Amino acid sequence: MGKRRKKIFHPLIPLFPYSLVPFIFMPVLVAVGLQWGDEGKGRIVHSIARHAHAVARYQGGNNAGHTLVLGPKDILALHLVPSGIVYPKVRCYIGNGVVVDLKSLMDEVRLLERRGIRVRERLGISPLCHVILPYHLVFEKCLGEGLRLGTTQRGIGPAYSDKIARVGLRISDYLNPKSFKEKAGKNLRGKLSPFMSAPAIRELEQAVMKDYPSIANFIRPLVRNVSLELFEMNKKDRRIILESAQGTFLDVDFGTYPYVTSSNPIAGFAPCGVGLGPKTIGMVLGVAKLFATRVGEGPFPTEITGSLAHQIRESGLEYGATTGRPRRIGHLDLPMIKKACRINGVDRLALTKMDTLAGLPRLQICVGYDLKGEFLTEPPDDSSAYEELKPIYKELPGINGDLGSMTKYKDLPSAAKRLLKEVVEFAGVEPAVLSLGRSPKNQIILDQKFEKQWM
Ligand code: IMP
Repeated sequence: MGKRRKKIFHPLIPLFPYSLVPFIFMPVLVAVGLQWGDEGKGRIVHSIARHAHAVARYQGGNNAGHTLVLGPKDILALHLVPSGIVYPKVRCYIGNGVVVDLKSLMDEVRLLERRGIRVRERLGISPLCHVILPYHLVFEKCLGEGLRLGTTQRGIGPAYSDKIARVGLRISDYLNPKSFKEKAGKNLRGKLSPFMSAPAIRELEQAVMKDYPSIANFIRPLVRNVSLELFEMNKKDRRIILESAQGTFLDVDFGTYPYVTSSNPIAGFAPCGVGLGPKTIGMVLGVAKLFATRVGEGPFPTEITGSLAHQIRESGLEYGATTGRPRRIGHLDLPMIKKACRINGVDRLALTKMDTLAGLPRLQICVGYDLKGEFLTEPPDDSSAYEELKPIYKELPGINGDLGSMTKYKDLPSAAKRLLKEVVEFAGVEPAVLSLGRSPKNQIILDQKFEKQWM
């Protein structure tokens, strides 16, 4: 038996009740999607980033699309730049876990600057980020037909493959003209020679090199030691938000593999994707839409088609923010959300798009599955089992009323409260925010403590 640990009685401890600790030591918040992406993370981060010191992206690339509503007709779709950029005092970072198409980043920054948003003095990119080059997009196109995953065709998979295969180029390599030319040329030829003729490859190589000087000059001043800067901010108890792209079921490990993206959106990866220690994370905010959508191929147990799907798609404007593809629509799948809460260690829920459901005569929510006669309360890890998975539904009354104008929980119709109760009880996690429209103004705060700390 080891020695018993001596209990430490510090004279100040009784003055610091545990509930006050988070208000004194500011933890890092991770905002993570609990479905297949498009949960409304952009609008939630937009609403909590106003008082943040920094917002950082930790994975994915320009496959993501975060839509922010700044005014009645003022809509912004961000793909790489974090959602905090709309607030002039917030610093924004692109962490090492992100793969960056530098040309697309340059275009996005210029677009934001044309709209009067100062970006370059507030945006920092890690030199450890791997770059997506035009040959990754061409390569993905060549593979596309065989894989049939319905990707965004932004070169995400090929760039992450190169990273893991240790042949990728990081921003630090990109900014070294000699090594860039050498490594990029070698990669390009190696990848594309089975698919393209030598002259076509040479042409592509020339195109990559032609754009190089202007992109490198643009990117160079943005490169920062993201890990160190966030570490220093965290030491000073500054508010930091880590923002995921995509969602839990597109995670390359925990998603519906192989119909997933090539990175880890789950919260556990967040500190790794920016270079912070795991103990800095103090709040995991899980964002879930009150119905389900998915873009691209892959299993979707509660998928619906026909007029109901059409109605939800049109009323919720469910079209991909990056590719414009119509999103597949489904009923709310609570076992998925519960599993996502477990995997991400969700502390609070942000529930979105209840307004899209308003007016439907009744709601179906999935509360379990039948898999060959066995009752499951969690979706299986093995994607092939999805083919035989039959959702089990509970019917709830439809929600009526002008939800967008409501700002207090007590104003919500009883059917809306019922839906909330079902989600919270099933997931076993309390809600913090209920979003009832695209603007941060259309939301109800359900947790005052969360509001005080984060909003
Ligand atoms: P990739 O990330 O382009 O490789 O695409 C892999 C899968 O993830 C495809 O099914 C895409 O439709 C999906 N996907 C990637 N990014 C997003 C997103 O931001 N929202 C929704 N689906 C996404």
